[in-house]
Amino acid sequence: VSATGPVDWGPLLAGTAGRAAAFLASLPDRVVGPPAALDDLLAALGGPLPDGPDDPEAVVAALAAGADAGLVAMAGPRYFGFVTGGSLPAAVAADWLATAWDQNAVLYVASPAAAVAEEVAAGWVLDLLGLPDGASVGLVTGGQAANTTCLAAARHHVLAAAGWDVERHGLAGGPPVTVVVGAERHSTIDRSLRLLGIGTGRLVVVPSDDQGRMVVGDLAGALDAVDGPAIVCLQAGNVNTGAFDDLATACEVAGRRGAWTHVDGAFGLWAAASDRRRHLVAGAAAADSWATDAHKVPNVPYDCGLAICAHPASHAAAVGMGEAAYLPRSTGGRRDAARWNPEASRRARGMPLWAALRSLGRSGMADLVDRMCDLAGRFAAALDGAGGAEVLNDVVFNQVLVRFGDDDATTAEVVRRVQDDGTCWLGGTTWHGMGAMRISVCSWATTEADVDRSVEAILRCADPV
Ligand SMILES: Cc1ncc(COP(=O)(O)O)c(C=O)c1O
Repeated sequence: VSATGPVDWGPLLAGTAGRAAAFLASLPDRVVGPPAALDDLLAALGGPLPDGPDDPEAVVAALAAGADAGLVAMAGPRYFGFVTGGSLPAAVAADWLATAWDQNAVLYVASPAAAVAEEVAAGWVLDLLGLPDGASVGLVTGGQAANTTCLAAARHHVLAAAGWDVERHGLAGGPPVTVVVGAERHSTIDRSLRLLGIGTGRLVVVPSDDQGRMVVGDLAGALDAVDGPAIVCLQAGNVNTGAFDDLATACEVAGRRGAWTHVDGAFGLWAAASDRRRHLVAGAAAADSWATDAHKVPNVPYDCGLAICAHPASHAAAVGMGEAAYLPRSTGGRRDAARWNPEASRRARGMPLWAALRSLGRSGMADLVDRMCDLAGRFAAALDGAGGAEVLNDVVFNQVLVRFGDDDATTAEVVRRVQDDGTCWLGGTTWHGMGAMRISVCSWATTEADVDRSVEAILRCADPV
């Protein structure tokens, strides 16, 4: 590689596009889990750092050959692990362009195009989610970073209201912040609280019901016992069952007591985009902050999370970048992403988000949500009562929990066999003390035929167990 002559990009990028297109075309038929063992991958990709440079095409060829057997068909139609979105075609292509353009989305002055694409996409997100027009939006790496960013804003806001400047003084010596959570909150909430120095030792845990929803009738009592600044964390979409907390009641109760309400809706907040599912998030707009992911339901490629805040001044005070003489700040409606992100330099992830939302439009987004939920219902209907299977949850969104037989070992063995079989991929979990198979439908590419083929594979794997 030399910086002295013109680079002939065409063959490198055309060859790479060919490889990518071949991979994407193979997704419907690929073994979904990774066939390669760790040692094979280390043998293919490992070895000492080369002594000198290598030709870019040879490097890409070596990466493609070495990685292939370790790739998971996550973007394909039969990947049902964790909560994993696929990648919409326009978003994949836009993400490539964002890489080729190599724009730093830190400040407007660094990349006006990145800033405007991000601002426009953020507005579309608020519209689809039914959240307040004036809310601030940070495009972060994912739900974890979104929860942390929103809870940093919450920490600032409730402490400022108590007369404490946490950005200046830190937490030591200030009024203690109490965080009220449901028993089935997502584990990233606790991690965010650790990172923010609030810790998990003072959490007030409100019990959850049989679907994992906060027992909202207990929230008022929990808040009454709190002395000082308080934050309430709610879930729009339980990571196992897909169940939604009663957001309207919880926001009303918390608001009356002056607590900040945060909603973790990494996948569930997108219910708002569908006429048929919007009731699940009724009242969400009354919260103070919302964390969600674009790499889940909207099928933007990794990574893209959204930290949304009804109090832009608190958002900026908590995570906005400090002054430095060489970093000119923008005015007049020009977006500086560093006001809303805990990062400084970062990729232009607004570009693929813009492309995904533009390619779907309002009706496409609604269809996408409905298709995922309807296909989850199809899984549940086909599996419940078949081959010793029992569906454990009310399938209200895109998540299905299934148990085989009456001991955990049987379910774990079926999950293992399904993963080995390769027709589809899904994981296991523990739900209220019981081992369960977890099915999460989150890709634009999944069809009814994919669900039927996966059900057939699951029942085949369950049969001999
Ligand atoms: C409800 C919920 N919150 C937070 C997260 C974390 O999101 P991410 O993995 O994008 O950081 C997830 C991930 O599945 C989730 O389902």
